[in-house]
Amino acid sequence: MTTLLDPTSHPAPTGADAEAALAALVGADQLVPLIDGPRVRYANLDYAASAPSLQVVADQVSAILPLYSSVHRGAGYASQVCTAAYEAARSTVADFVGAREGDVVIFTRNTTDALNLLASAIPETPTSAVVYLDIEHHANLLPWQARDGRVVPARETLAQTVAALEVELARSPAALLAVTGASNVTGELLPLAELADLAHRYGARIAVDGAQLVPHRRVDIEAAGIDYLAFSGHKIYAPFGAGVLVGRRDWLDAAAPHLAGGGAVRSVSLEATVWTDAPARHEAGTPNVVGAVALAAACRAVRELPADAVERHEEALLRRLDEGLAAVGAVPLRLWAAETERIAVVTFVLPGFTAELVAQYLSAEHGIGVRDGKFCAHPLLTRFNATDGAVRASVGLGSRLADIDRLISALAQLRADGPAWTYERINGYLAPSPDPRELPSWLEPDDAGGPASPCVTG
Ligand code: ALA
Repeated sequence: MTTLLDPTSHPAPTGADAEAALAALVGADQLVPLIDGPRVRYANLDYAASAPSLQVVADQVSAILPLYSSVHRGAGYASQVCTAAYEAARSTVADFVGAREGDVVIFTRNTTDALNLLASAIPETPTSAVVYLDIEHHANLLPWQARDGRVVPARETLAQTVAALEVELARSPAALLAVTGASNVTGELLPLAELADLAHRYGARIAVDGAQLVPHRRVDIEAAGIDYLAFSGHKIYAPFGAGVLVGRRDWLDAAAPHLAGGGAVRSVSLEATVWTDAPARHEAGTPNVVGAVALAAACRAVRELPADAVERHEEALLRRLDEGLAAVGAVPLRLWAAETERIAVVTFVLPGFTAELVAQYLSAEHGIGVRDGKFCAHPLLTRFNATDGAVRASVGLGSRLADIDRLISALAQLRADGPAWTYERINGYLAPSPDPRELPSWLEPDDAGGPASPCVTG
């Protein structure tokens, strides 16, 4: 880590050097082909979907691979190393989120998996309902909808929305209030400590979908009073297939195992099985030690940055993004009428152009990666009347002001002149046609001979 990112520096340095030091952590200098031939630095403005690996995470993975072996199952030295690394990863994650003594860290595949696990762990009582907002990502909506869920429509302001949640919690007892920490569509933050107080006042617990929040803000679940926190490795620079659920032990010890299988049991006979306690109770099968170790390495690396480094980096980018989008006439989607705290995730509609054309054009003609569609938040996009989807720009450690400037100037050019290339619907998806961009040599081209069509189901 460079001295520019000395964890003791406060406030964290800003400016081009600090930006470059952060970008170096993710090796953010990939070149990608443009549709007409040249290669440009990839402007990755799609961190909210998935973030590239930090270099220290990749190094940690490379370090463990030669010793890769089974976890909790082997007497061999490599097995012992992997078991120790897996359990150490659990404590690193617990420290990273300020877990309480006695909390459990369960490794899952991702946030969706973690919240589905929690949904099945809510005790079956007459008050087992879950209260949630209609602004949520499907991961924090479908598991509740599938059981005793009570959805509360968000109101015009954040204060009115909190008040509406209180009315619902007061109306009838609930087991859980499930909220996002930061919207994956608008980046707006929810007041977690206030909502935790609210839930507890009415005898409910609170679960937070931290998928978007945790890579951008420090979270201390004990200080905030959060009972359960779920997040994904792939959004916090550890794309190796692990996520986590962290939280109170009692429900998780009492719940049916998330998966039935080896590793989750104390004893098995043909007549009866005695399940072990959490976390192993919910981690049947060979655990993803590489994913867990990668996730822990990312938590350590993010924690070692100066306390406000990520916020200060993002503040400048978000300001430039807001101003630039306004200047080109893009219409941002926002939950609340008044400005509230946001991470640097902005979703917008560009009048006169479909979201899919904008996204394909940005990629093909400018080497800019954004996401378009409905962001796995269909009810929210319906609220916004964005039934054909929208475009999302989201930043991370590798993003630079120059990336935002490229986005804004590309959008201005699109509005002024339209696309320079032709686009047509192929297999149901809009794509540049023809598309002469070559795939990396290690990847076989698909039948069309160019990049595979995106699978925009979200
Ligand atoms: N949940 C991710 C997103 O919002 C994939 O894009």
